[in-house]
This record gives sequence, C-alpha cells and structure tokens, in this order.
Amino acid sequence: MTIETAILRDGIPAFRRSPIDRLVWKLRNAFWEWRFNVRTAGALDWDPNLSDSRYATLPYKAFFAMLDAVQPTADDVIVDIGCGKGRFLACASMLPVKKVVGVEINGPLAAMAHANLARMRRRKARFDIVTAPAQDVDLSHGSVFYVYDAFGPGILRAVLDNLRAAVDSGRNVRFIYASPRHEGVLRECGWLERYDAWPPRPDHANLHAVSFWRAIPRGRAGA
Ligand SMILES: C[S@@+](CC[C@H](N)C(=O)[O-])C[C@H]1O[C@@H](n2cnc3c(N)ncnc32)[C@H](O)[C@@H]1O
Repeated sequence: MTIETAILRDGIPAFRRSPIDRLVWKLRNAFWEWRFNVRTAGALDWDPNLSDSRYATLPYKAFFAMLDAVQPTADDVIVDIGCGKGRFLACASMLPVKKVVGVEINGPLAAMAHANLARMRRRKARFDIVTAPAQDVDLSHGSVFYVYDAFGPGILRAVLDNLRAAVDSGRNVRFIYASPRHEGVLRECGWLERYDAWPPRPDHANLHAVSFWRAIPRGRAGA
C-alpha cells in the first residue's frame, strides 16, 4: 500500500490490532501517565454546539515519534491547536523548547490540560493554556503546530490564516497534522508544503495517518 492510499484510508484501520497489541498499548500509555503524573485518557461529554469534535488522543509512542521527526529546538514554541487534556503538550514539554501552548475551546478540557501540565513531573518547558476557539486566537508566536482531528475545513482555514503571521515572521514553521482529513485546505493556502506523510503505523501504535508540513521559503511561496 502506498502512503497516499493509506492516507485516503485514514480512519479505517489499515491493520488489525490483536487483543495482545491493545493490552500492550494500554499498559505503555498507563506507564507514561504514571511517569509524568498526568491523567489524559478517557472521553468527556461532547457539546456539538461548541465544537466539531469530541476529545480523543493518540498513544504516547506516536507523540514521541512525531516530535522526534520534527526535532524542535530551544527557539521553538510548540502549539497544540485543540489540546484536549494536554497529552501531546505533556510529551512536548519534556523537551528543552521555549514554550508549549495549548488552545482549547472546551473549558473543562482546558482546565484538565492546565492541571496536568501544572502537576507534571520532569517538565522542562514553560506552558500556557488558552481557553478559546482557535480561530480567534493569535498564533503568530508559534513555530511547531499540531492538530489532531479538531475541526472541519472552515475552521481549519481560519486557523491557518491566524498562523500565517508566524510564517511571515520568517520562523521555521512546521505543522503536524494527525488524521489529515482536510489536507486540501493546507495545500490550497500556497505557503505550506507537505514534506513527509506517514500511513497508520503499528510500530507507533497509531491507527491514524500523520502528515508533516512546513513553510515554503518566501521566494517560492505562491500566495
Ligand atoms: C480529537 S481531540 C485532540 C486532542 C489533543 N490534540 C490530542 O491529540 O491529545 C480535538 C480537540 O479539539 C478541540 N476543539 C475542537 N474545535 C476547536 C476549536 N475551534 N478551537 C479550539 N479547540 C477545539 C476539542 O474540544 C478537542 O479537545
């Protein structure tokens, strides 16, 4: 199966998890929750009037792999747009980056993300949780952005407009898109290019595709 096909099949597991796999992944996640002293598993009642998506997260192993692929530096501000309970932020905050920021529309989830990051063990980076719709938030200070299945194409377009200022500042902007259903919107914007794409990866315990985007250098950007 090519990467393109796998991405098109996102949401439909490209491999089956055996009960043993499921148990191993669960134990691994439980280990990291214990190690970091956070609680990020489990769903929360969803208000469809508030957002396009309910809370879900990905395995720790998948987050470590994504961060490894992006190689953030001490100058980076990592932003999870739709941060839920803050699992991705917890992983990112273990790196010696400038700051990690979560944006979350759902107040109770944002409060949980804040509590998790505040009591976390071994956190190296400062953090900030912004409780607001991402389309209304100034994202110009960010450099590594992460989105997992948070909203549809309309809001994604508005969010990209918000982070255009980060690109215009000349920063090395990267955008990690997990479960990339609306990649067309990123392609349309003309100032981001996809430089890598992962199919669902059993080795990362991840059932979703992930694509990696970066700012197109100024001279080459089309829009
Ligand atoms: C699928 S969850 C992903 C959570 C987190 N990023 C993770 O990977 O662990 C999507 C999150 O986006 C939030 N969300 C949805 N629409 C949003 C919006 N317009 N602005 C900010 N957050 C939003 C939801 O409340 C939910 O917590």
